[in-house]
Amino acid sequence: MTQAMQEEQSVLVDEVGPSYLEQYREYLPSQVNREVWSSRFVLFVENLSVSFDGFKALDMPHYGVRHGELRVIIGPNGAGKTTFCDLVSGKTRPSAGQVYFDSKEITNMDESEIALRGIGRKFQTPTVFDSLTTYENLLLALPGNQAWKNNLFRSETQKESVAIDAILEKVSLAEHRDKLAKSLSHGQRQWLAISALVIAKPKLLLVDEPAAGLTDSETEKTAELLLELAKEHTLVVIEHDMEFVRRLDSTVTVLNEGKVLAEGSMAEMERNEEVVEAYLGR
Ligand SMILES: Nc1ncnc2c1ncn2[C@@H]1O[C@H](COP(=O)(O)OP(=O)(O)OP(=O)(O)O)[C@@H](O)[C@H]1O
Ligand SMILES: [Mg+2]
Repeated sequence: MTQAMQEEQSVLVDEVGPSYLEQYREYLPSQVNREVWSSRFVLFVENLSVSFDGFKALDMPHYGVRHGELRVIIGPNGAGKTTFCDLVSGKTRPSAGQVYFDSKEITNMDESEIALRGIGRKFQTPTVFDSLTTYENLLLALPGNQAWKNNLFRSETQKESVAIDAILEKVSLAEHRDKLAKSLSHGQRQWLAISALVIAKPKLLLVDEPAAGLTDSETEKTAELLLELAKEHTLVVIEHDMEFVRRLDSTVTVLNEGKVLAEGSMAEMERNEEVVEAYLGR
């Protein structure tokens, strides 16, 4: 590397470092009153890390999502993206650090309690119930139906049934309403899984790889759907497909080997040497 290149790189790194930290610095939940951080951020993690057999899968000094924000996390395979969702949703216990959500610390709460508090999650492999119809899958996702017992649904109210039909319309599944989920295409299953998430009315949606395995036109449609949802919801979307991420046009956080490399617009990430080297340029 020439000296000029080195200088340019250090300028770029400096640009990224403070600017992404700056927006968090005055709101660290460990340093300020709850009213201060929670007025701006719905989710905040501080010094969050997890190790598996001595291997640090995630090490995140600060990360916050503002109320109503659409955020994207990108990074190579094994970067820790799904691990981030596991820690925030309570599936995995952190080795150190704190997770704050909706005015409270939720570190070490049970997965089910965190879900009830309002963090909804679409897993990397969409979980839908094959032997139920599209409509029944959404019935099951209604608030209060998660503790589903004796194979019986609580009967839906008129309002809930209208809400289900509205979301089915939005994701172009209305004509598949009474078909078994196993007859749906991969893309339609992704949309059903996202719909189930929305019907449960979470305060924060974690959406892990919604475009994985989709055709170009399905990917485009998924981006439109998430942008539409972003008008009324706070979302963190994890994705590999760069065209898709560009379309979302939101603040991107780049993870690599469990660490936050940079945070900013997609255009900024594309100018960041470290990010290009670790991920984008490959
Ligand atoms: N429960 C676990 N036990 C042991 N190792 C784990 C566990 N969860 C994740 N890991 C490891 O942590 C690292 C990060 O994995 P993670 O699934 O978060 O990556 P990712 O960024 O989601 O990758 P991908 O793009 O492939 O989905 C990987 O090396 C993975 O093997
Ligand atoms: Mg993953």
